Amino acid sequence: MCGIVGYVGKHQATQILMDGLKRLEYRGYDSSGIVVMSGKSLQLVKKIGRVENLAKEVSSRKIRGCHGIGHTRWATHGGVTDVNAHPHLSNDGKFAIIHNGVIENYLQIKRFLETKGFRFLSETDTEVLINLISYHYDKEQPGTEENRFLVSVRKSLLHVEGTYGIAVICTDFPNEIVGARKGSPLCLGIGKDEYILSSDVASFASRTQNVVFLNDYEIVHVTETNFSVTNTNADGVETVVHKIDWDLGSAELGDFSHFMEKEIFEQPNALENAMRGRFSEDGSTAHFGGLRMTPQELRQIDRIVLCACGSAWHACLVAETLIEKFARIPVEVEYASEFRYGNAPLDKNTLVFVISQSGETQDTLAALRESKRKGFKTLAICNVVGSTIAREADGGIYQHSGPEIGVASTKAFTSQICIAAMLALYLGRMRDLSYDKGVRFVEALKQLPSQIKDVINQHEKIKSIAHKYINVHNFLFLGRQSLFPIALEGALKLKEVSYIHAEGYPSAEMKHGPIAMINPEFPSFFLATQKTLFQKVVSNMQEIHARKGPVIALISEGLEVPPGIADDIINIPSVHEAVQPILATVVLQLFAYYIALERGCDVDKPRNLAKSVTVE
Ligand code: M6R
Repeated sequence: MCGIVGYVGKHQATQILMDGLKRLEYRGYDSSGIVVMSGKSLQLVKKIGRVENLAKEVSSRKIRGCHGIGHTRWATHGGVTDVNAHPHLSNDGKFAIIHNGVIENYLQIKRFLETKGFRFLSETDTEVLINLISYHYDKEQPGTEENRFLVSVRKSLLHVEGTYGIAVICTDFPNEIVGARKGSPLCLGIGKDEYILSSDVASFASRTQNVVFLNDYEIVHVTETNFSVTNTNADGVETVVHKIDWDLGSAELGDFSHFMEKEIFEQPNALENAMRGRFSEDGSTAHFGGLRMTPQELRQIDRIVLCACGSAWHACLVAETLIEKFARIPVEVEYASEFRYGNAPLDKNTLVFVISQSGETQDTLAALRESKRKGFKTLAICNVVGSTIAREADGGIYQHSGPEIGVASTKAFTSQICIAAMLALYLGRMRDLSYDKGVRFVEALKQLPSQIKDVINQHEKIKSIAHKYINVHNFLFLGRQSLFPIALEGALKLKEVSYIHAEGYPSAEMKHGPIAMINPEFPSFFLATQKTLFQKVVSNMQEIHARKGPVIALISEGLEVPPGIADDIINIPSVHEAVQPILATVVLQLFAYYIALERGCDVDKPRNLAKSVTVE
C-alpha cells in the first residue's frame, strides 16, 4: 500500500529515488512521483500509471539536487489522477510530503484548515496533513532550541488519527528529512555519506546493508551528516543498527520473464531454506529456535488460533488440518480482519499464531496486537526479517523464502505450508505421533525440493492445458481436507492474475449449490491426489462430467481416473499426505500464470492490488 523513499546525501537524488521506486512498485502502482530540492526550490514530477511513466517524464527534465522524496501509490482517498499522486505540497510551497497510510480524521482537519484560509487541490488526506504541518510551522517561533521543522511535524502528528509512514522536506531546511511512522513501515538505510528513508529495505539494499527500523510513534530527523530519533512526546529514542543479509540477485529477474515465474521456479530452493537446520538429529521431528517457548510450555497448549489474510489465511487452513490430524490439538482459523472485532472466547492455554509474508499486513498486525493486549502468547510465521509483525510477536519462525516481488504470493505460500507441516510434526511428536511416523514425515519433507522440481518440469504440459481455458469466464477448484484450502488458493491465484472468476469448494460440497452453474463453458479443476478419498472424488468428477462440465484432474501417480471422465489429467508424484498440498499448489500456480500470460495480463502487478496491505 504505497511505497515511500527519501534521500539525503552527496549524490544526485533523482536516480536514487527512481531506483528506489522501481523496487517499491510492488507496494502500489496507480501513480508515482518525486520531488527534489534544487537550492531552495522544489522540483516536482508526478504521473499516473507505472513508475516507467514517471521515469520517461523525469528523463525529459533536468532535475538536479541531492535531497528529495518519492512515492508510488495505491489509491485510498481520491481517484487515480496526476493531482492526487504524491508528493503533495503545502499551500505556501515550502513543504512536500509522501505518505503511506490513511489519515482517518482528515475531513475534520481539512475543515479547520479551511477556516484558516488553506485551499486544497487534491482529494487526498495527505494534502491535509502537509498543510497542517505548514500551519504549525508558521505558529512556531524561529530560534527555539529544537529544530522548528521537526517540531511542527511532531505537533501535527499529535492531531492525527489513523496510520502513516511519512517523509517530509522543507525548503527552509535543505538537506533534511523528517520521517515518522504509525502503523505503516519505515526504515532508515545508513550509507556512506548518505541516508535513505524507505518503506522497505529493498529500495536501498544495493547502497547499504545498515538499517534502523522505526517503531510506531517514532519520528526520525535526518540531516546530511546525522540522524536522531524521538517519539511523539519528544523523548529521545535509542536506535539499533541492524545489518541486513540481502542477496541482491534474489530481487532481480535474471533469465525469467516475470517475478511470478521466477518465484514459482525458486520453490525447491525456498523450501530447502525453510527446512534447513530445523530437523532433529534422530530425524524424527522438527525444531524451531525462535519460538521462545519450552517443550513443557508447548505441551500445555490445548488450543491454537491462527490468523492471517489472503493466501496466508489459506496456509492457516492447511495448518489447521495438519495440526489437528498429526498433533491432535484443536485449531481455529480466523480472518485477521475479523478477529479484532469479534470476541472469540480464548482460554489461558490458547496459543495465537499469525502468518504473514510481509509482516506488515495491517489487519494481521491488529489481530496480533489485540491478542497481546489480552495477554496471550503470540507467535508469527513471517518472511520479511525485521518486519513489524516479526518484531512485535513474542516468538516466531522465519520462512527464509527470500524476497517475494510478484504481487501474487507463490513461494512464500508454499514455504508457509511447509513450516505448518513441520509445526504439526513438532507438536505431534510431543504428543501421540510415534517415532516411526515422525521419521516418515521428515523423510517426506526432505524429498519435497526434488519433487517440486519434477512438478515444475511438467510446465510445458501445464501450459498447453492452460491454453485450452484462456477464454473461459468461470472456474471451479475442488479439493478435500488439506486440499480444500489449496482449491481456495488455486481460485485466488487465477482471479488475481488473470481476472477470471473462480471459486474453491470442498469437492463433495459442490453438489449442494455450485453444480447449478456447470455447463460446457464452466470447467472444474479437481485436486484428487489423496488415495483414501480418491473414489469419492472420482464420483464428484462424474457428476460434473454428466452435466457436460469440462474436468481437469490432478492425481497422484498410481491412481487412475476411469476413461472419458477427465478432459485433462496431470500427475504428481505419490507423496505423504502432509506434503501433497505443496505439490498441488505448484501445479495451480503454473496454471494460473500461463493463463494470465496468454490473456495478456500484467502477472506481476495485477490491477487494483498491492503486495502488502498496510491499510485496514
Ligand atoms: O504479507 P501477507 O502474507 O500478510 O499478505 C496477506 C495477503 O495480502 C496476501 O497473501 C494476498 O492475498 C496475496 N495477493 C495473495 O497472492
